[in-house]
Amino acid sequence: MKLAVLSDIHSNIIALREVAGHIDAWKPDQVVVAGDLVNRGPRPLECLRFVQEKQKTCGWLTLIGNHEEYVIKNAHLRVMENDPRFEIHRSSYWTYQKLNNDVSPLEAMPYKLSLSAPDGGEIRLTHASMRGTRVGIYWHTPDEAYPELIGKPQPPVFCVGHTHIPLIRRINGTLVVNAGATGLPFDGDRRASYAQLTWRAGRWEAKIIRLNYARQQAERDFEDSGFLDEGGPLARLMLVELRTAHSQLYQWTARYEKAVLAGGISMEQSVQEFSASNRDSRLYAMGRFISRLPMPARRFVASRLVARAKK
Ligand SMILES: [Fe+2]
Ligand SMILES: [Fe+2]
Repeated sequence: MKLAVLSDIHSNIIALREVAGHIDAWKPDQVVVAGDLVNRGPRPLECLRFVQEKQKTCGWLTLIGNHEEYVIKNAHLRVMENDPRFEIHRSSYWTYQKLNNDVSPLEAMPYKLSLSAPDGGEIRLTHASMRGTRVGIYWHTPDEAYPELIGKPQPPVFCVGHTHIPLIRRINGTLVVNAGATGLPFDGDRRASYAQLTWRAGRWEAKIIRLNYARQQAERDFEDSGFLDEGGPLARLMLVELRTAHSQLYQWTARYEKAVLAGGISMEQSVQEFSASNRDSRLYAMGRFISRLPMPARRFVASRLVARAKK
């Protein structure tokens, strides 16, 4: 038996197509998309349609992630446009609109799946852990936390995503696999990630696959789709996440969310301040500025930067 698990596509259709092509060639018995298919990226409808087609033609299964939940909330919440809370959720509202205000396919996604191995053992899958769609499993997760994260009865295999950082661990008889992120990795490796699980000689083996894809096109999609202009200031940080393979929103939230909600700073100001003090964002802003200059000016700026670096 062969099982492919991909997760955290985050509206990145270019990475999704690349991973799907690799999965098709591998010919698994089952494919599971473990949540965060949409939001935090530029092509939500294309990704949803792509996976729906795979569900129909190849029997792919899906799970709900916290980002599906954020988008679903837009259907039930009415926040005024001038409310700071709207600014924080503007990117998920943009996703909601791109999905034609129809969240029914997201609401139909289950929280947990249980598949059967050839020996009858359970393969349990969920987005982050059995403690919720936002409680993830990391390399630094202590051993004693695992029983609650995996849930009872303890299955032979437990598969998740959510952290955007792949992981394979055997703990107390359970093979724990975090598939990493297909569309938005946070481990410094910009390649798309997914997990292959193979039942061989009465035992499961797991492998993380990393794939290069047309990332420049994925970056262009941020502009071409309108996400960068219409998704609010945080959409700019999401593009930095794609370019650097490091989370930006986590640090922004810790530093600015409360102040923005309290009206102490505007969303735009907070993102500008964060970007100015953040090395990844500064490098991105500089790269974007330089890439828009005419070639002679680009060479001049590059030579000045090289000269400065040599000092
Ligand atoms: Fe995610
Ligand atoms: Fe997530």
